[in-house]
Amino acid sequence: MLFLRHVLGSIFIVCCLTTLTNGATLANDEVEALKWIGKTLGKTGWNFDSDPCSQRHSWVDQSTRYYVNNVTCDCSFNNNTIYHVVRIVLKAQNLSGTLPLNLNNLPFLQEIDLTRNYLNGTIPPEWGSSTGLVSISLLGNRLTGQIPAELANLRNLTSLVLENNGLSGTLPAALGNLPNIERL
Ligand SMILES: *[C@@H]1O[C@H](CO)[C@@H](O)[C@H](O)[C@H]1NC(C)=O
Ligand SMILES: *[C@@H]1O[C@H](CO)[C@@H](O)[C@H](O)[C@H]1NC(C)=O
Ligand SMILES: *[C@@H]1O[C@H](CO)[C@@H](O)[C@H](O)[C@H]1NC(C)=O
Ligand SMILES: *[C@@H]1O[C@H](CO)[C@@H](O)[C@H](O)[C@H]1NC(C)=O
Ligand SMILES: *[C@@H]1O[C@H](CO)[C@@H](O)[C@H](O)[C@H]1NC(C)=O
Repeated sequence: MLFLRHVLGSIFIVCCLTTLTNGATLANDEVEALKWIGKTLGKTGWNFDSDPCSQRHSWVDQSTRYYVNNVTCDCSFNNNTIYHVVRIVLKAQNLSGTLPLNLNNLPFLQEIDLTRNYLNGTIPPEWGSSTGLVSISLLGNRLTGQIPAELANLRNLTSLVLENNGLSGTLPAALGNLPNIERL
């Protein structure tokens, strides 16, 4: 499984680097979505002068023990002419905004990891519409309110990590029906 992920990851990178030089870029509505998401989270470093899929500095930086800054795209769509954002990982960046109200304009997003920031506010029920999500981590933030039962619509979710926040209420029973969950 890990090996497969590694291989797939390498294929993404190679194919993305190749197609970037052929002029493929991230679709405009996804660029706009990233701008809005960045603003909502309080993420200031993203440099939109380079394509978000370019793996250039500000989109992918060297990780340290806790800090991770990595936007990953898949470019295997339409004969390698279109990119889609599949992964956003922003760990330990002191982000102090709130969660974006929805992720609708990133329809291919599989993983969002905002571990160890200062994000506050609630988890929007609308995240439950992003059915492509496989992994969500909001570990170590200042989120409050209830866990939305709508997250139980994420049939492909394998990992939902919400610990170390200020969440309250009861666990929605529907989460027990997530068919692919491995880590909760
Ligand atoms: C960014 O994420 C991709 C996809 O998971 C991974 O292959 C790559 O090693 C990561 N880069 C850094 C610097 O963390
Ligand atoms: C895909 O792209 C390659 C290289 O640009 C081209 O040779 C090929 O004809 C394309 N295939 C389709 C189905 O468009
Ligand atoms: C977060 O804030 C701490 C304390 O001010 C600082 O030491 C650290 O470098 C900041 N991290 C980032 C990624 O800006
Ligand atoms: C989130 O934090 C900001 C200040 O950082 C504060 O103004 C705001 O009221 C907080 N929101 C919630 C819902 O706690
Ligand atoms: C869920 O995963 C399956 C199997 O990997 C995939 O075929 C399907 O497209 C995924 N659903 C969404 C909404 O991405």
